[in-house]
Amino acid sequence: MRKKVTVVGAGNVGANCALRIADQELADVVLVDVVEGIPQGKALDILQSGPIQGYDVQITGANNYEPTAHSDIVVITAGFPRKPGMSRDDLLLANYEVVRTATEQAVKYSPNAILILVTNPLDAMCWTAYQVSKFSKNRVIGMAGVLDTARYRTFVAQELGVSMENVSAMVLGGHGDTMVPLVRLTSVSGIPLTELLDQASIDRLVQRTRDGGAEIVRYLKTGSAYYAPSAATVEMVESILKDKKKVLPCSALLEGEYGINGLFVGVPVKLGANGIEKIYELKLTDDEKAQLERSAAAVKELVDVIQQKAGA
Ligand code: LAC
Repeated sequence: MRKKVTVVGAGNVGANCALRIADQELADVVLVDVVEGIPQGKALDILQSGPIQGYDVQITGANNYEPTAHSDIVVITAGFPRKPGMSRDDLLLANYEVVRTATEQAVKYSPNAILILVTNPLDAMCWTAYQVSKFSKNRVIGMAGVLDTARYRTFVAQELGVSMENVSAMVLGGHGDTMVPLVRLTSVSGIPLTELLDQASIDRLVQRTRDGGAEIVRYLKTGSAYYAPSAATVEMVESILKDKKKVLPCSALLEGEYGINGLFVGVPVKLGANGIEKIYELKLTDDEKAQLERSAAAVKELVDVIQQKAGA
């Protein structure tokens, strides 16, 4: 039987997730959005690319969750995007409501699904979906680290004039200004980055990675990135549906790992048919540890705001 993926939010991120899932023939897709006509129109448009691209998957659009029943994965992209000058955190309370409603509806029809969160502020939205769904922690996963790492790998590859595929790296922490690119473990075909670039250049690439989302918002003006975010999301979808067990940085509920408790923070995980099948706890240097703690504290501030203001 075909796999089924629901994508909530038919904006640019959601529609591009649907398109990539279809292009890779990973699953049937149901695109859900509150706006009438948009998910139906985009779904039909993607479906009609099938004869040309050579895929046989069903893509349907809906304004309710009934057609999403029995999804293997539900990707939640719905929410308000960032505008120029707006931080991810400004989105907090507005998107809390969006994610709460989407999660409630989605899990009602797909109680066995794995949830992938994309809506910002990412780590706080994972916490929201985890609370609302009451799913086990392996089935609530946030997309951020794969995107942040892809940006970092892109900048390193560009700087060195080497293939992007050769750059191996991991960005940990929350999806925000405090994210933690692990420079010490960055390599180019096994060659440590620290042997290839001076510290000032590395610092510049790290900072550009941290500002990666904002750089694109500044160009687009009316929205945030969607090509790389959808590519990152679908890499996670593929690893789960095909049980590939890729090791990817994802936002996961930590319960003592890295000294962090009860928060979603980006860490390396193994993604397979059961969602998060393992959390890798790396030995960090004191400095890296301090950076990760700072990043977790930033996530905690948001969760505290949700708990106080939304009474969650
Ligand atoms: C980004 C936004 C979507 O990183 O968080 O592009």
